[in-house]
Amino acid sequence: MSEKYFIKTYGCQMNVYDSARMASMLEAMGYEKTEKQSEADLVLFNTCHIREKAAEKLFSDLGRALLIKNERLEKGLKTVIGVAGCVVQAEDEEIFKRAPYVDFAFGPLTYHRLPEILKKIKEKKAENVLDTDFPAVSKFDFLPENKAHGGTAFLAIQEGCNNFCTYCVVPYTRGAEYSRPIADVISEAKRLVSSGALELNLLGQNVNSYHGEDENGHERSLAYLLNKVAEIDGLKRLRYTTSYPADVTDELIACHHNIEILMPYLHLPVQSGSNRILKLMNRRHTRETYLETVQKLKEANSKLEMSSDFIVGFPSETDEDFEQTLDLVQKVQYIQAFSFKYSKRPGTPAAVMENQVEEKVKKERLDILQNKLFTLQENFNKASIGKVMDVLFEEKGRHKGQLIGRTPYMQNVHVVTNEENMFHIQKVLIEDATTNSLKGKVI
Ligand code: 5AD
Ligand code: SF4
Repeated sequence: MSEKYFIKTYGCQMNVYDSARMASMLEAMGYEKTEKQSEADLVLFNTCHIREKAAEKLFSDLGRALLIKNERLEKGLKTVIGVAGCVVQAEDEEIFKRAPYVDFAFGPLTYHRLPEILKKIKEKKAENVLDTDFPAVSKFDFLPENKAHGGTAFLAIQEGCNNFCTYCVVPYTRGAEYSRPIADVISEAKRLVSSGALELNLLGQNVNSYHGEDENGHERSLAYLLNKVAEIDGLKRLRYTTSYPADVTDELIACHHNIEILMPYLHLPVQSGSNRILKLMNRRHTRETYLETVQKLKEANSKLEMSSDFIVGFPSETDEDFEQTLDLVQKVQYIQAFSFKYSKRPGTPAAVMENQVEEKVKKERLDILQNKLFTLQENFNKASIGKVMDVLFEEKGRHKGQLIGRTPYMQNVHVVTNEENMFHIQKVLIEDATTNSLKGKVI
């Protein structure tokens, strides 16, 4: 019987992508996937360090993993426990100090070494293995080929970040910016499409600063790459995420006019609406330049809608600063957004800034902001009622015969329909809407 693996993924879409790549490496080694942790011979946690809560979640899950490991041991079954991702890069040896039963740990830049690490553990050549290298050669050169597992697929084109926003750990955990060469991206994109993907989401921490080399060694922009990927036969939808506002070029904006399959939805995190706070955050945009970019994007494609990330309670944020954020939300009319209380991250400049905001104030501001954002989201969803929208079905719903898919605007749609529609795009008449999802029927 083959050994089973279980992966739990925390955090961003890049982690979801990384987990999928690790899963295919394990499958190539003969492991079988299981959704039940208690059945797994190998348990892997792919972690996130962006906010304190995300990191703490790992240690509570590790505690539970130890209990399961011990229960299995009583039945004579061994369990290997591994930790991957940004927590490892940040915590380094601390991982083994806090959870000595972890067998191996590696950061986000070295997961291609998973097979050799597992081999070492199995052959008992090491008590535990830690790998937090920033290797000179990209892991992408060593990963096995990627295939689609549904109608939509992620494709990492860029990794790392040189922006050093003062609150953020990413430049420390994912390292300096790296862009994959054009040819590599195109061949992975073609493979994903030929294995069933109708939609590609090009990923990067700072995706619009992409500057991968073409065959002649010339650096090319994201706009160039989007045009190339859009030419792939059979591809119906294209997205890219996450973008940095100051790096949205006119050439990129033009893509939203010229590329038909580029979805009319853009995630462009603003973080705050106050210029004073943006400066303290070391963001290279102001509320004015951000609003100007949004306006240009909407001029390029009048159907385009925006989503964003927000941080409330950044050190020294006043009620007036926060009002500016609410005002910007009102101006942009986001249709979706993620908002967070500022979370102190060790080693980042903002963690030692004066005038940290009280937890109570952060919570109040988050409630007010989220109320506003949810209202906008609900209004947009309600305005979809009566419309016919293209829906790409991606997963089974909880009810019998129900599928869940996504509109061009990333709205979830629940539809009772033929299972053959899974991983296909159908026209759906939207009949009902809540803050989080839509309901409809295939027409
Ligand atoms: N505290 C709160 N939110 C943060 N983010 C990043 N770092 C922090 C932090 N220290 C948020 C930002 C970013 C999103 C991925 O996470 O809004 O865009
Ligand atoms: Fe973090 Fe800022 Fe880089 Fe985004 S742009 S990953 S928030 S440092």
